[in-house]
Amino acid sequence: MSKTLIAPSILAADFANLQRDVEMVNNSQADWFHIDIMDGVFVPNISFGMPVLEAITRHAKKTIDVHLMIVDPDRYIKAFAALGANILTVHYEACTHLHRTLQAIKAEGMQAGVALNPHTNVMVLEDTIQDIDLVCVMSVNPGFGGQSFIENTYNKVRTLKKMIQEKGATTKIEIDGGVTNKNAKQLQEAGADVLVAGSYVFKAENPPQTIAGLQDLLR
Ligand code: DX5
Ligand code: ZN
Repeated sequence: MSKTLIAPSILAADFANLQRDVEMVNNSQADWFHIDIMDGVFVPNISFGMPVLEAITRHAKKTIDVHLMIVDPDRYIKAFAALGANILTVHYEACTHLHRTLQAIKAEGMQAGVALNPHTNVMVLEDTIQDIDLVCVMSVNPGFGGQSFIENTYNKVRTLKKMIQEKGATTKIEIDGGVTNKNAKQLQEAGADVLVAGSYVFKAENPPQTIAGLQDLLR
């Protein structure tokens, strides 16, 4: 089994101390930065946009995993590539021509991700899975940090893992929302490759130690 990766979600960072929190992730055992972009249309919340992402990437020294919770993401693919995104994830529910969107992301040199809302069946990706580098399974309804984990996620991950294996694809499975030390191991066992953790990391008394604790659990 390959290593399970940890991606702290910057949404839960202290935006008045963004450089400090980015450096904390740089110096921790975390693997990726998870960056949530919300437009107030696809989800009922607005997070931050390009200037803040630019400030993050100026200091970040690890893979930049951008999760777009926006309508019509095709309009911004080039802009996110220019800002240094390594992985660009769009929502299945926001893309009429998903295959075209995936091609456009890859044409800009990024890895292509697709996020699924909790109500979306993983089998909708059966015909595109070979073109997808990362599936982000939402384990909360997107829009806010700090929500509780939806238990049906385990079933979704198992079904998705089986589909990926049957298709001979190399797609990674990422879990986003409500991840803690209570569900991390079970998610790994179900087939998760990447765990996003926002509040659990940043609201902890000692964030680097909390990240290290997760890594220990997943060894
Ligand atoms: C939710 C975001 C998540 C969020 C996770 O819409 O996509 O990435 O930051 O936060 P926690 O870990 O607090 O649920
Ligand atoms: Zn996210």
